[in-house]
Amino acid sequence: MAIDQAEAVSRDGVPDRRYFRTPATAPGPSGPQMLARLREIRSDPLGFLQRMTQVYGPVVQFPIPSPASYLVADPAAVRRVLVDRSRAYDKATVQYRSLSLVTGEGLLTTSGDIWRRQRRMVQPAFHRASLEAVVGHAAAATEELLVRWGDTSRGAVIDIDEAMMRVALETVAASLFGTDLSSDADRLARATLEALDVVVSSAQIPVRLPAWTPSQRSLRRATRELDEAVHRMVQRRLAETAPRADLLGLLVAALDGEDPIPLREVRDELVSFMVAGHETAASALTWALWLLAGDPVSQQHAIVEVDEVLGGRSIRGDDLPNLAYLRAVIDEAMRLYPPVWLVTRRAMEPDVLGGREIPADSLVIMTPYLAQRDPRMWPEPERFDPERFLGEQRGGAADDAAYWPFGLGPRMCVGKDFAYLESISVLASLLQHVRVERVPGEPDPRAVPLVTLRPAGALPLIVRPR
Ligand code: HEM
Repeated sequence: MAIDQAEAVSRDGVPDRRYFRTPATAPGPSGPQMLARLREIRSDPLGFLQRMTQVYGPVVQFPIPSPASYLVADPAAVRRVLVDRSRAYDKATVQYRSLSLVTGEGLLTTSGDIWRRQRRMVQPAFHRASLEAVVGHAAAATEELLVRWGDTSRGAVIDIDEAMMRVALETVAASLFGTDLSSDADRLARATLEALDVVVSSAQIPVRLPAWTPSQRSLRRATRELDEAVHRMVQRRLAETAPRADLLGLLVAALDGEDPIPLREVRDELVSFMVAGHETAASALTWALWLLAGDPVSQQHAIVEVDEVLGGRSIRGDDLPNLAYLRAVIDEAMRLYPPVWLVTRRAMEPDVLGGREIPADSLVIMTPYLAQRDPRMWPEPERFDPERFLGEQRGGAADDAAYWPFGLGPRMCVGKDFAYLESISVLASLLQHVRVERVPGEPDPRAVPLVTLRPAGALPLIVRPR
């Protein structure tokens, strides 16, 4: 959809200053233009961002009085913010502040020295050796799922989004907290999702809601449930005699370690990891299955690989390097549907991005979605083609900022290896037994960018035994 540039941009290429209290330093839409597009922003925010860069270029300023807010799409500028000058940008943004209403002060949302200490503390739980168990947990969760589905011989219509949320929850809870679903991990996940729902929907209303509104009450209830579930998980772990090397084990050991952390921090990290590691992996898997269901040739490739490598037995950690096609399927799904669609930073000092001045305190908005669907870097960007990630081409375009579903720089996803182990194991364990098909007549799902990029409503697929 074309946007009338003349209305928004004055002759020097920057927006009409009437709509700004902060200086206008980059082109962008005017206030009235933004208002006229509110419905589009709500219904198709990613399409809106794409159109903004098509009209105004790789750095777009939004008519927001404070803080000055920029959409930054230029790969070199994204690399500057996230990698080269990462210490000059922190996470004190509206996005991370909203998340921290649920997560508290955990690794996902903190900045500076606190973040550095937290990252050092949890890192050992994400080394390759500590992650070996992820494959077994993911396979077990998938096998349970197949049992629950029962007889699919006549083709069962399954909500894949719900199924992948469950598998991802079981995998993350078993791997990081050493719990199974009969215990508090289920309540922890439910309460986390409930709290996030409130936070995401209130973030769309630009006023602070009073404490008595139903949504604020359910936020308080969910937060209380979170605290209780974590408390019980910690108490049970403290009662065990043998230490464990998972995330919960590391955190519990730190309670009375050399540099002791308070119980509050254990709670905040557990919730942060639930937020960061559950829905993200589920989103990657859901889109991967939906794309495979629409492309029988790619699905057949994947099935042949699974049969060659596994030959009918359950997946093991040492199979992963041989499942290159499955990994390419996951990579390609995350290219088209990056689970973490929004990455924001606050400029702690003035900078210049893509030739535009960025004042201190500005909000910088970035999304891998734009680079990953850019036809200059990805031929036929809308087409699902796992081959892009095979052989010489592995990793897609040469520029790392052309493909960054796990972020870039020091704050890159700490769970990246975990996510690959999990998603490849789940896909392999599923495709060993079943095929997926699209439901005839069912419209394509709309991708809604909430905390992660998820299908709006359920995502039904037909599941049949192979
Ligand atoms: C396909 C799945 C996943 C995707 C696409 C993903 C993506 C990301 C991205 C883009 C970031 C950086 C955000 C930023 O720079 O603002 C991030 C950070 C993070 N991720 Fe993931 N993630 C995934 C799975 C996981 C899993 C499974 C875990 C844990 C088990 C996890 C834990 C975290 C944590 C704790 C951070 C914050 C790291 C830090 O700031 O030091 N993620 N993730």
